[in-house]
Amino acid sequence: MGSVNDALREAYVGEAKAALRLKLYAEQAAEEGLPQIAKLFRVIARSEEIHGARALKALREVKSTEENLAESFESEAQVAEVAYGDFVRLAEAEGNRAAALHFSQSRDVEETHAKLYKEAMNHLLEERETTYYLCRVCGYVADGALPEACPVCGAKPDRFEPFS
Ligand SMILES: [Fe+2]
Ligand SMILES: [Fe+2]
Repeated sequence: MGSVNDALREAYVGEAKAALRLKLYAEQAAEEGLPQIAKLFRVIARSEEIHGARALKALREVKSTEENLAESFESEAQVAEVAYGDFVRLAEAEGNRAAALHFSQSRDVEETHAKLYKEAMNHLLEERETTYYLCRVCGYVADGALPEACPVCGAKPDRFEPFS
């Protein structure tokens, strides 16, 4: 038996994974014309998120925003949490083009995160405002202007979601 912190971390990771999976199940149920089942998946996904959040808070890893931005910047700048570079090579070696494309686009998006955090850290000091635009296809985040096409996956502007 490991430490309580190990158990909290396991609970946090497990609940976070379950919540994401259930949200996709909810989308699938909605597409199949099953709104009540979709609702059930959504409410349980939210419930799992609450469990995950409680575990993460108990780990005392949510600090001041200044510290959270610095920590997020550092972890993005050092290594991406997911080793997309290795995954791309693996998918290419196995001839899995769809996976290779997903991994390489995700890697490209990850590389922009550190820059965004840096800007956010500056904005926080300057009290400047910006609108972010999220590509719903690949996750690319544009800062301040809606691109004519996603620079990572080529998606059109109507696939972007504004965060203003
Ligand atoms: Fe990232
Ligand atoms: Fe994209």
